[in-house]
Amino acid sequence: MRGTRREVVVVDFGGQYAHLIARRVRELGFYARVVGYDSLSLRDLEGAGALILSGGPHSVYEEGAPMPDTRVIRRAIDSGLAVLGICYGHQLLSRMLGGEVRRGEKGEYGSSTLEVVADDVIFRGTPRLQRVWMSHRDVVERAPPGSRVLARTSVSRIAAFRLVGARVYGLQFHPEVRHTEYGSTILRNFLVEVAELEPSWRPEELVGEIVRRIRDRYRGGNVLVAASGGVDSTTAAYLVKMAIGAEPIHLVVIDTGLLRRGEAGWAQRTLKSLGFKHVHLVDAAEEFLDALRGVDDPEEKRRAIAEVYFRVLEREAERLEREYGEFRYLVQGTIYPDRIESGRAGRSSDRIKSHHNVTLPERLRLEVIEPLADFYKDEVRRIARALGLPGEVVERHPFPGPGLAVRVVGEVTREKLEIVRRATEIVEEELRRAGLYGQLWQAFPVLLPVKTTGVKGDARSYEYAIAIRAVVSEDAMTAEFAKLPWDVLERIASRIVNEVEGVNRVLYDVTNKPPATIEFE
Ligand code: XMP
Repeated sequence: MRGTRREVVVVDFGGQYAHLIARRVRELGFYARVVGYDSLSLRDLEGAGALILSGGPHSVYEEGAPMPDTRVIRRAIDSGLAVLGICYGHQLLSRMLGGEVRRGEKGEYGSSTLEVVADDVIFRGTPRLQRVWMSHRDVVERAPPGSRVLARTSVSRIAAFRLVGARVYGLQFHPEVRHTEYGSTILRNFLVEVAELEPSWRPEELVGEIVRRIRDRYRGGNVLVAASGGVDSTTAAYLVKMAIGAEPIHLVVIDTGLLRRGEAGWAQRTLKSLGFKHVHLVDAAEEFLDALRGVDDPEEKRRAIAEVYFRVLEREAERLEREYGEFRYLVQGTIYPDRIESGRAGRSSDRIKSHHNVTLPERLRLEVIEPLADFYKDEVRRIARALGLPGEVVERHPFPGPGLAVRVVGEVTREKLEIVRRATEIVEEELRRAGLYGQLWQAFPVLLPVKTTGVKGDARSYEYAIAIRAVVSEDAMTAEFAKLPWDVLERIASRIVNEVEGVNRVLYDVTNKPPATIEFE
C-alpha cells in the first residue's frame, strides 16, 4: 500500500523493535514499511523518504551478526536521505562510519536519564534531562569521525550522535518505546525536521484503494471466508463485499465448542446484519472435543485443533462447492505483523506458539486475498470504524484460534470448558460494567490444573483455582499486566467463586510479557 507518498523504510534486525518503530511512525502520520535486513536492496531506496535501522538482540562485532548490504546504507547517506540508527542500528552505523563499538562494563536495561549535551533539531522541544528506555550491553566507545555527540547517560557516553553535514543520526535509546518520555517528539523531529516529510498517512482513507485492488483481482467464482466475528476477519470480508458484492461470498463460522458462550450464534447474526448473504454455521464441537481427549501438551493441543479445523473447513467448502459452484478465493484477516518478512516470522510470538490461522488452508488450493496485510491492529480498527462496523466488533478483544482450549491448562474436558466459559462471562461483564473493557488488550480467566482447600458454607471444599489475566498492550508483542482496581478484582473473584461450580480460589496474574506470554499455553 505505497500510494504516492514517500515511505519510511524500517530495517528489521530481529526482535520486536522494527514493527514497533513502524507502528509509531505510522501513528505520527507517515507510512512505514518493514524490510528484513537481509533483503534490503537499492530498490528499497526508490520512493523512500527516510531509512531507520532498528534495534536487535545481536552484537555488531560478533561472528554472524545481522549485516545488511552496507552499500545500500552508504548510497542512502550519500544521496542525502535521512538515516536514523536505533540501538543495534546506532551501533551498526557507528561502526560502519569508522567509530568503535565494544561490550560495555555493565548493561543498561530499563529507564535511564539522558542528558542532551548539544543543541540539535532532533531534540527540539525536549528538555536537557529526560527519561529514556535503554536495552543494551554494547556501547559506542568512539563516535565516527566527523560526527558530533548529542547526548549521554551515566552508562553510554555516546547515547546520540549526528554526522555533521549529513542527515544521519544514531540513538542508543529506544524512542519507539512508550517509556521514553519524549520518544514521539524525537521521532517526529527526525521525520519532519530532518527528513522533511509531511504527515499524510491515514489508513481509513485507503478504503477506496483497497476495494479497487480487490475488484481488479477478482476473476469470478465463489469466495470462502473462515469467519469468527473478530475485527480482522470481519473487516477483511466486509472490504471484499464492498468490492464484489455479497452474492459470491460464503462465510463459514465453525463452532469449535471452544468459543465463549453464544459466540458462534452471535457471529452469525452479526455478520448477517452486516449484509452478508451466506453465513454458514457449522457445529463441530464434538469433533474438537474428541481430538482433544487425553492431550495435555499445549503445542499438541494446537496441532490437534488446527487439524480438525482444516478438516471441517475443507468438508464445508466441498459441500458448498456442490451446492453453489466453484470456489476460487479464500479471504483471510492477516495483518501486517503476521506477515513473513524475508523468510523470517514477522511477529516474534509466532515462533513461540504456532498460530494456526496464519497458515490456513493451502490444502484448499484457493487463491488467498488478504486486504489488511499492510495494516496494524489499531489501523484495522480505524478502518473498521470508518466502515461503520458495530462497536462490538471493532472493540472486541482478540481471541486465540484454539479458543478456550488454551485457557484450560492441561487436558481439556467438557466440564472444564464450562467452568472457563462461565468465568469468562463474568470477567467480561464486570469489566464492561466498570467501563474498563475497551482500555484492555485482553482480559480472561484461565483454569489451572490445581485444586486447593477452601471453605464454602461451613464445609471444607477442595476445588479448582482460576487465574485472571488482564493486559494492556499495543500489539501483543509485549504486554503489561493491567493495574485493575481492587474493587473490580474483588467483584470478579467473589462472583466466580459464588457462581461457578467447582472453583474456590481466584488468583491475579501480575507478570508482564516478556517473560510470560499473554495466554497461559
Ligand atoms: P501470546 O500468548 O503468545 O499471545 O502472548 C499473543 C497474542 O496472540 C493470541 N494468540 C493466538 N491467536 N491463534 C490465534 O489466532 C493462536 O493459536 C494464538 N495463541 C495466542 C493471544 O490471544 C494474544 O492476543
